[in-house]
Amino acid sequence: MHNIRKIFIGAAWPYANGSLHLGHASALIGSDILARYFRLHGDDVLFVSGSDCHGTPIAFEADRQGVSPSEIAEKYHKEFTETLIDGLGFSYDIFTKTATENHYKFVQEIFLDLYKKGFIYSKETELPYCKKCNKFLPDRYIEGECPHCHFSSARGDQCDECGSLIDPKQLIKPKCKICGNVPVWKNSEHFYFKLSAFQEKILEWIKNSKGWRKNAKNFSTNFVNRGLQDRAITRDISWGVPIPLPGYEKNKSIYVWFEAVCGYISACKEISIKIGNNDLWKDFWQNENSIHYYVHGKDNIPFHTIIWPSILFAYGNLHLPDRIISSEYLTLQGKQFSKSRRWAVWLPDFVKNFDSDTLRYYLIANGPETSDSDFSWKEYQTKTNTELIGHFGNLVNRVFSFVAKNFPEGLIFPEELDKNEALFLKAAEEAFEKVGQAIEAGKFHEGLNLIFKLVEKSNHYLNDTSPWTAIKTDRKKAERSLAITGHIIKCISVLISPYLPKTSQKISLDIDFELKEWSYPKHSTLVVHNFKPLYKKIEDSQIEKEKEKLLS
Ligand code: MF3
Ligand code: ZN
Repeated sequence: MHNIRKIFIGAAWPYANGSLHLGHASALIGSDILARYFRLHGDDVLFVSGSDCHGTPIAFEADRQGVSPSEIAEKYHKEFTETLIDGLGFSYDIFTKTATENHYKFVQEIFLDLYKKGFIYSKETELPYCKKCNKFLPDRYIEGECPHCHFSSARGDQCDECGSLIDPKQLIKPKCKICGNVPVWKNSEHFYFKLSAFQEKILEWIKNSKGWRKNAKNFSTNFVNRGLQDRAITRDISWGVPIPLPGYEKNKSIYVWFEAVCGYISACKEISIKIGNNDLWKDFWQNENSIHYYVHGKDNIPFHTIIWPSILFAYGNLHLPDRIISSEYLTLQGKQFSKSRRWAVWLPDFVKNFDSDTLRYYLIANGPETSDSDFSWKEYQTKTNTELIGHFGNLVNRVFSFVAKNFPEGLIFPEELDKNEALFLKAAEEAFEKVGQAIEAGKFHEGLNLIFKLVEKSNHYLNDTSPWTAIKTDRKKAERSLAITGHIIKCISVLISPYLPKTSQKISLDIDFELKEWSYPKHSTLVVHNFKPLYKKIEDSQIEKEKEKLLS
């Protein structure tokens, strides 16, 4: 038995203010690969996420639609659950939301603890106020030019273009996002988090960190080197977690990013209670040996590498992030995804019309793992039809259909192997170690490539040994070749299961093979019980239809 590790996986919590699109899937897919892999490997996994329900993203959308923020949050939370779990097959241990009693309680506990320790203090500051709308303009209610990269529509808390965190005072040519008016500056009292106190600790910790994506390490190092400033962590907005101090319960609330990251722990507490083991979360959070993965898009980096670890430092005795898996951006046919310009491929729609494994494949084979990448319908069709189906689907189809027809009683695995066969099987055996290491390092693309090398080898082997010809003269020879390829397919179905869970499941049902651990399976007789092709080819007409939707 190997030593069983405690693996925490925190996937970013999408804002519950609109449907999810392919960009979300490209940033989050790695989290499910990790969770499925570690479970199969025999480790203890806690894979959590949820809907980010508060703050100006939701309040702004609610204003726009003329409904209450909680209505918006509820609607999208329900949709996210269906899309991510049923649609994409994400295997969360819990997918919760920030609008829960449990979350409020925990956030307020952290807030008070930090306040008592002096890491949170209150201060009067000048904030943008719109006289026409009669309100303060936090975060998404204000827009202006980014002081760092000069992008023209940076928000009051962050620039989407360069990822910088912004103080609204720094915005060049600020405008009210509702009415376009130039705001005035008005005093308001707010609570600040003493980020400056963690400058040295965070810098040291980042220096010593291992296994982060390059973008996360670079961005964070530069960020800390510019000097950490205390940050306001409350806002003039009533939709959010209330400030747990007398006299502040109304009109103001805790800044969405301060509380959302606390969801990583509150979600673990919630599931602990749910399964009747209230202290379970401590095995992951108050344990030096656990391993914590965070998976998100690059705009989320500073919150996970600076703000959240500083909160953890301040609170004390909680495990810091270990692996930061931040992806780059996915564009859609050359242009940025945009909700307002309706330039997007929506996930609820996608998973209704296509097999989610084909999307999972595309996002790993072609996704923004280390640099920005593009989704185009044409490329999706080509990749699916030629790579996933052409190389892999057809391999399985060819073998399984031929075996079902010609060897209904099953294939006996050969007792002795020649050198070639032994080498082939050894490559499959070694793949478990190699693919596992790639996944653990967050190198999902590399892991998938290794698996597809094995697919390629199998296709060559099958062509060389050609059981379809052999069967006419030498049935034993044909059986041998099929038994060996069939065994490799078993290996592949394990190796690929973190990536393409539905595919693996279909294979295992076809041959009555139980997918239960990340290791080279035993040699045994292989019977194909029932058989249906793994995938359906994507037709031109389907692609044309999708392209039209983009233009309308
Ligand atoms: N809601 C944020 C976004 O969509 C992500 C929050 S991740 C969290 O960018 F876990 F910190 F909440
Ligand atoms: Zn910028």
